[in-house]
Amino acid sequence: YVIGIDLGTSAVKAILVNMKGTVIAEAAEAYPLIHEKAGYSEQKPEDWTDGTVAAIARLVNEAGVAAADIDGISFSGQMHGLVLLGEDGAPLRHAILWNDTRTTEQCRRITEELGPQLLRIAKNQALEGFTLPKLLWVQQNEPDLFARAAAFMLPKDYVRYRLTGHMATDYSDAAGTLLLDVTEKQWSTAIADAFGLPLSLFPPLLESSDCVGTLLPEMAGKTGLSPQTKVYAGGADNACGAIGAGILHPGTAMCSIGTSGVVLAYEENRCADYEGKVHFFNHGLTNAYYVMGVTLAAGYSLQWFKETFGHGLSFDELLNGIEDIPAGSGGLLFTPYLVGERTPHADAVIRGSFIGMDGSHTLQHFARAVLEGITFSLKESLEILRASGKEISAVISIGGGARNETWLQMQADIFGTEMVKLKSEQGPAMGAAMLAAYGAGWFPTLEVCADAFLMASERWKPDPNRNEMYEQLFDVYRQVYANTQSLNE
Ligand code: XUL
Repeated sequence: YVIGIDLGTSAVKAILVNMKGTVIAEAAEAYPLIHEKAGYSEQKPEDWTDGTVAAIARLVNEAGVAAADIDGISFSGQMHGLVLLGEDGAPLRHAILWNDTRTTEQCRRITEELGPQLLRIAKNQALEGFTLPKLLWVQQNEPDLFARAAAFMLPKDYVRYRLTGHMATDYSDAAGTLLLDVTEKQWSTAIADAFGLPLSLFPPLLESSDCVGTLLPEMAGKTGLSPQTKVYAGGADNACGAIGAGILHPGTAMCSIGTSGVVLAYEENRCADYEGKVHFFNHGLTNAYYVMGVTLAAGYSLQWFKETFGHGLSFDELLNGIEDIPAGSGGLLFTPYLVGERTPHADAVIRGSFIGMDGSHTLQHFARAVLEGITFSLKESLEILRASGKEISAVISIGGGARNETWLQMQADIFGTEMVKLKSEQGPAMGAAMLAAYGAGWFPTLEVCADAFLMASERWKPDPNRNEMYEQLFDVYRQVYANTQSLNE
């Protein structure tokens, strides 16, 4: 067996997987988000460690397997979060998370000081969510604390450090810091020097399937695992999500809809230039990359709509009947910018809209329009990938967007591509388990592991008429941003 751990933003999930890729048991532990001020989003690193230890202990106990039969553990983690450690290895402050938006000023500084160097080295624009702006925020606003920092880490790296005693990160997570030279696969001294960041703060870099060490005896005791259990580095949640969806070769893409939504495609060419319009990160597969666009309020838009207008309905009840509403929702159009937008606008200030309301529209029209608006936003990312020459013949749908048949057909119709659903979908936790399985030598390559573990179950093909109608509506959707921007200035 292997264990895959997904350290998420609301909870940590652990799965126990056998050599056929079957999930034998799973356990999750939730932890709180701390919002001290508007725009602040933090967590206590100790909550992650405690949650992970408790989830593994429950998993091992409930599955009733012998500790000696567990060959390895690996991790997927929420990206970009800053964990600052002192000399003694203890966190100096709460972690500042990917969805914390306090760093607009620091992003401006990075963009101004580095100019074209930033895209050349880090392959990404400076965005509030990334780690470098958070480091600069602490350097500027908490200088005494910053002076005591001995190392920085990303969320899953901290938990792995607590379990093994070894500090490290992997390329896929390091790519989300803006401090990695993404093509050369080394920390960028040019960027570190530009901001006076000593290289001693940076953890050693590993491949996602590299073994970091074994469990500390104390942690073996608490989890019920053997102290000989090997711990593999793991990767960023988007990289692990991609691995868990089999996005391991050119031509494959994934659409993942959770609170936020991601459209992601495999990229083999480290020199490919997307001009910073989409994120460009190292994959968890050695020497491969992936590109992705993000819709900030994807599932969140639907949740907001349900809570605000659904009067106690469940998601299923809310979406019941939307299949009978014609495509295009009778002229009702929604833009999902409830918390700003990342791709393609990188605008934290813009807000969403409903336009085209008619006296005959019902709650179902609005619910369908919300799904269409989220999907249009994701199509904008897909179109950036296509415009740069990516051939995408099928998209694997995972997360909440893969749970509703009408939405899956809508994704096929709006994207103009076949949508594929996996038989058993575990998201990033499965990617983490696959990294452990490959790291432990179960398979000669990660691709062979994917062939053994992952199976497609159903496919949805675009309907040519609806696709054409949605293309016209997409043109209107694209005009809404430019025409409503001044409302929020
Ligand atoms: C990616 C991003 C999010 C987090 C969520 O750039 O910010 O997808 O990884 O965990």
